[in-house]
Amino acid sequence: MPEKMTKSSNVVWHQAQVSREMREKQNAHRGAVLWFTGLSGAGKSTLAHAVEEKLHRMGCRTFVIDGDNVRHGLCADLGFSDVDRVENIRRVGEVAGLFVQAGVLTLTAFISPFREDRARVRSILGDDFIEVHCDTSLDVCESRDVKGLYKRARAGEISDFTGISSPYEAPEHPELRVDTGTDDLGVCVDQVIAYLAGKRVIRA
Ligand code: ADX
Repeated sequence: MPEKMTKSSNVVWHQAQVSREMREKQNAHRGAVLWFTGLSGAGKSTLAHAVEEKLHRMGCRTFVIDGDNVRHGLCADLGFSDVDRVENIRRVGEVAGLFVQAGVLTLTAFISPFREDRARVRSILGDDFIEVHCDTSLDVCESRDVKGLYKRARAGEISDFTGISSPYEAPEHPELRVDTGTDDLGVCVDQVIAYLAGKRVIRA
């Protein structure tokens, strides 16, 4: 039974009959979270979806939880202040944990700029947390500026913009660092798949 701070008293944990192990056996792969972190425009979503497509073709149960999408629903009440980003990542960490219990290979694509927040998710998920740093420099992200947000942030039209007016704390010891700034997408995808196979998350 998880020991966590909670506001609600008198709630009792209900144990499921269908366990995570039973689901994983049926799926023939482990549940885990590939946590893609990096600047806006670093290629997190692109890589996460490309990895998912490959895993899906291999017969794995997968799902991508994407920052821009989650902010339309689950986190629609949150902005980009430090406090809101902390809450954003906390919620996503919890949701990702549920997906893992469901035996799903879960891919998350969030800037998740603060080391402490990622460390908190890691502490919840333990070995199921695989941090993937999409290591694209600010210069490259800004020159790509796919959504035109960097230009607007530089013009002062967007406050607290990561890399411009809000910090990005790069991972010091990620499980994987992918050079999404220069390497081809296929190379990055293969790197992630090889990692999963090496760790026996999926079958080689
Ligand atoms: S996080 O910091 O809380 O992890 P998240 O990944 O959910 O951020 O959302 C980032 C996306 O929101 C960016 O890719 C960008 O499209 C958009 N965005 C809008 N405003 C900002 C901002 N101030 N800083 C960063 N990204 C922003």
